Amino acid sequence: MRFTVAIDGPAAAGKGTISKAVARHFGFAHLDTGLLYRAVGAKVLAGAEPLSAALALVPEDLSDENLRTAAVAQAASKVAVLADVRTALTAFQQDFARRAGGAVLDGRDIGTVICPDADVKLFVTASAARRAERRYAELTARGDQTSFETVLADVEARDERDRSRATAPLLAAEDAALIDTSDMSIDEAVAAAIAKIASVKS
Ligand code: CDP
Repeated sequence: MRFTVAIDGPAAAGKGTISKAVARHFGFAHLDTGLLYRAVGAKVLAGAEPLSAALALVPEDLSDENLRTAAVAQAASKVAVLADVRTALTAFQQDFARRAGGAVLDGRDIGTVICPDADVKLFVTASAARRAERRYAELTARGDQTSFETVLADVEARDERDRSRATAPLLAAEDAALIDTSDMSIDEAVAAAIAKIASVKS
């Protein structure tokens, strides 16, 4: 059985948490595509050339703890502007989406570019302030020394770069269901996503 769920949305909207819960609920495999861009960004910060870094990516690169930092997030959104980097990462994502047993992929362009024929497309969003609050809590829980203002500025700068780039900009697919999590608990957001998928999957 093939079944693809595409979950897109701006920085720190809760896509990762929702995707993991959806994958667990339906028994699907999950790919956080942001990690691909973060892994390339981390290699560029270490001195690599973006396209070479993207072409040389191996699965172990995605489990580096360091990928969650704000510095790597910024580097990721800068390499994500490059069309050749995006092309280099496309086949891996599309192969993952087609795996037997179902797959959920979260990112920015899954419903628009990577999996335009996905069975379900969700666009998860929230106000920038709510997203920054959640990311601030996540980063400080990990021991990162940062401020709410810094996190908000990071989220807004990445959103602006992701929305305005020429290749695969952050955009809701026309047939995506919108989930605004600004006033939802994580359990409510997960329940909304599961209900939407269940209504299609039957
Ligand atoms: O977790 P968060 O929403 O903060 O970011 P992420 O999903 O890990 O993505 C990091 C960066 O990678 C984003 O700001 C985008 O620039 C880029 N990205 C992308 O361009 N396309 C994707 N499918 C996923 C991430």
